Amino acid sequence: MYTISALQDIFNSEIEKESTRLISSGPENLYAPIKYTLSMGGKRIRPVMVLLSYNLFANDVENALPAALAIEIFHNFTLLHDDIMDAAEMRRNQLTVHAKFNNNAAILSGDAMSFISFQYLLKSKSEKLPDVMRLFADTAVEVCEGQQYDMDFEQRVDVSEAEYMEMIRLKTAVLLGCSLKAGALLANAPDKVSDELYRFGIDLGIAFQLQDDLLDTFGDEEAFGKKIGGDIASNKKTYLLIKAFELAGQAQKKELLHWGGRKKFDQGEKVTAVKKVFAELKVEEKTRGMIETYFKSAISCLNNLDIDECKKKQLHLLSQILLKRNR
Ligand code: IPE
Ligand code: IPE
Ligand code: MG
Ligand code: MG
Ligand code: MG
Repeated sequence: MYTISALQDIFNSEIEKESTRLISSGPENLYAPIKYTLSMGGKRIRPVMVLLSYNLFANDVENALPAALAIEIFHNFTLLHDDIMDAAEMRRNQLTVHAKFNNNAAILSGDAMSFISFQYLLKSKSEKLPDVMRLFADTAVEVCEGQQYDMDFEQRVDVSEAEYMEMIRLKTAVLLGCSLKAGALLANAPDKVSDELYRFGIDLGIAFQLQDDLLDTFGDEEAFGKKIGGDIASNKKTYLLIKAFELAGQAQKKELLHWGGRKKFDQGEKVTAVKKVFAELKVEEKTRGMIETYFKSAISCLNNLDIDECKKKQLHLLSQILLKRNR
């Protein structure tokens, strides 16, 4: 069994090699944004999940590299489009693709990446490849559904906690579930175990997005690499804001509605005002509690998994890394 850091090293050198290969073809204006994005790094948790999950059942992890590349390239494609949709200018402490190049570049290079991800996946050697293709395609559609809910919710003030949970399951958690399940399927794992790994990925993914929401408001900008307060500025219905609306008294509700309804505002002023309400309502603590709930649920999925305890340890470790992250 490989360690997480060994898998990270294996993946990092592979993606470095592949992104250099990609840029050697033209047109330059299509491939330069792709190379730029893939060279920005990121945590690369999804490809490590693919490799780790594959490695639970087979030793030749290089056979899972095409699928790991596919999922990381797909993830990066979603970020190119997401940053246009969210009007975000910074990611991984660098300019986002649409800010550095332009919107058309982020759209078309993103489109190309989504298809390139399928090209990589097709290189996988496994009798389960059709199942993995189906899982991947279904997941991709779900991510789009989640992204649409996310955008729709910007215009609403009555989003329920249940609607929010479904939105983040779709936009974020399914890709983590897919990463784990794809690795297991490619290694011919029993169906029951690959389904359980999927469920573990969903709970971990929900905790992961809750934490992303938390960091977007309360994180450290330098560590997080994205502009703090972006979610507040664009009226994202994060767990924080939904909780705040639920707990707010009349004056606090009025304040939140006032800032949500303003077309012109100073971003710093809006973020400070909304954070003040969040602090009064202890929204940060409540979000941490919810992260803990999903994290525990993920761990209990993990404990029930029918695999070697020693191998499980790497999955525990990965969960710990995600829980403690500040970026
Ligand atoms: C960002 O994903 C998008 C979310 C689902 C929150 P990551 O936080 O995994 O981004 P990188 O790839 O590490 O930059
Ligand atoms: C994005 O959620 C999820 C996807 C990209 C599908 P966010 O919009 O919260 O992600 P960040 O914060 O920009 O990374
Ligand atoms: Mg975003
Ligand atoms: Mg978004
Ligand atoms: Mg976010």
